[in-house]
Amino acid sequence: MTKPRVAILGTGYVGLVAAAVFADRGFTVLTSSQSLDKVETINKGKAPFYEKDLDELVAKTVKAGALKAVHGRREAILNSDIFFIAVGTPSLMSGEADLRLIKETAAAIGEALQEKETYSLVIARSTIVPGTTRNIIIPLLEKHSGKKAGVDFGVCMSPEFLRQGSAVHDTSHPDSVIVGELDMRSGDMLEDFCKQVYPDGNVPVLRMNMESAEMVKYGRNTFLAMNISYINEMSRIAEIIPGIDIYEVVKGIGADWRINPAFLNAGCGYGGSCFPKDVKALISFARLQGVEPELLESVESVNAQQAAHIVAITKQELCGALKGKRIALLGLAFKPHTDDMREAPSIKIANHLYSQEADIIAYDPKAMANARDNFIKDTIKIEYADSIETCLKDADCCIIVTEWDEFRELTAETFSRLMKQAIVIDGRRVISPSERDKLFSYRGVGLGTPKTSEKPMVIKLGRRLIQAKLINEQQLREALNEQEKRGGLIGANLIKLGFLKKEVLLDFISDQYGLSVNS
Ligand code: UGA
Repeated sequence: MTKPRVAILGTGYVGLVAAAVFADRGFTVLTSSQSLDKVETINKGKAPFYEKDLDELVAKTVKAGALKAVHGRREAILNSDIFFIAVGTPSLMSGEADLRLIKETAAAIGEALQEKETYSLVIARSTIVPGTTRNIIIPLLEKHSGKKAGVDFGVCMSPEFLRQGSAVHDTSHPDSVIVGELDMRSGDMLEDFCKQVYPDGNVPVLRMNMESAEMVKYGRNTFLAMNISYINEMSRIAEIIPGIDIYEVVKGIGADWRINPAFLNAGCGYGGSCFPKDVKALISFARLQGVEPELLESVESVNAQQAAHIVAITKQELCGALKGKRIALLGLAFKPHTDDMREAPSIKIANHLYSQEADIIAYDPKAMANARDNFIKDTIKIEYADSIETCLKDADCCIIVTEWDEFRELTAETFSRLMKQAIVIDGRRVISPSERDKLFSYRGVGLGTPKTSEKPMVIKLGRRLIQAKLINEQQLREALNEQEKRGGLIGANLIKLGFLKKEVLLDFISDQYGLSVNS
């Protein structure tokens, strides 16, 4: 079997990772970008963004002459046999996917196809709603080439399923390849290519029509997003019941062979360039077709609330007020092993904190420059720390937002030594049970604690007593801790601990609430 020459149009995560993996598997690959900077970076053997293992693979394949970046699409197309369209489809304000780059690329391929004499194959790799390949890409290819799809050239739709942070691994070892084909000849050509890329025979190739292939991509991503919103909602319920741990519950749920627990990790909500965009795009697509996507809408709204929920827990731990409190955010990237900040939950959390006048300091091992320069720019005042230690120093509370490995190694001693008070909100459940017990205060997503069931009334009374300068925050916290350990009403505990005289409390309650309280 002769090896086809490959062009990848687009040098983002999807494009460049595929280009490097295909080149590493022995193909000659040209990858095209409209940015001269990107072309230069890649040809120097570097990836223009951080992705685990990608720099090494780009360096290796560029050096071997298997991978080359070119400026513009024409050269890439004229020197290849199969072309992957791997450009971005960001969300428009309406939630619909923006097809501008898809259209531009299809037109450019069409123009170059005019000059080609051999049969070649165009493969749509970007995420596009069902019908896009047939109704938008193919007409543009035909219009600009003057040739006929299915006769002069082939067309397939083959979505990708790589996760950022493990994109090289996922592209090298996919669980399946979806081949959506215009006709048998196109499908055969792509299947042959897949068999050469994955020669071991353990990657099933599933052939179907182009619309079904387009829908598989949305099906997988929205299903996974639904899992995450489901478990985040379950974790909010679990948090009300002392003793429940949603992570233990998931082990039980996942023991049922019909349920895969892999994407049932409760956390700060899903982010990134895919789930939020794809859920929105499918909602918008369904509406345009006259279908009301109620479940998908709930998936989205549960996700939006999760950041607010994390901040609400933080507020509870700080006895109700965030103003002037120094909050350390550990983690900014939407997930570990990437510097990507797109739709990162950290942005939503920082927004909530900032709007409540908290002082925010953040640390992330990889994403700080991206966060500072492109995402959390002028909208929110935020300090960036150059280490975990600087971030935690004198903080009133720490929120763990991204599950970087180095955060898993943090001990209670480090938090206690550096922070004003070791109050930790673990949005990713990275702190071990033995360490969390040694902290002044710990709240984990999906972990039921007595504090969760505290009536807002208790917090309100506590805050009012602080405002009236009858107690201070430390005293309220100790009384809450006492309540957690031994029960009893908050007022009774304040009296028991000697922070407040009984008569003063009774007068205060009667004055504030108009209640006459019997001793
Ligand atoms: C996702 C899909 O997992 C890939 O299969 C797909 O190819 C890709 O989108 C895409 O469409 O290109 P990605 O967004 O890179 O990949 O990352 P995920 O690992 O799926 O994580 C997405 C978000 O969900 C992250 O914010 C992560 O923290 C969150 N998440 C994930 C959870 O909160 N809980 C989980 O159990 C899993």
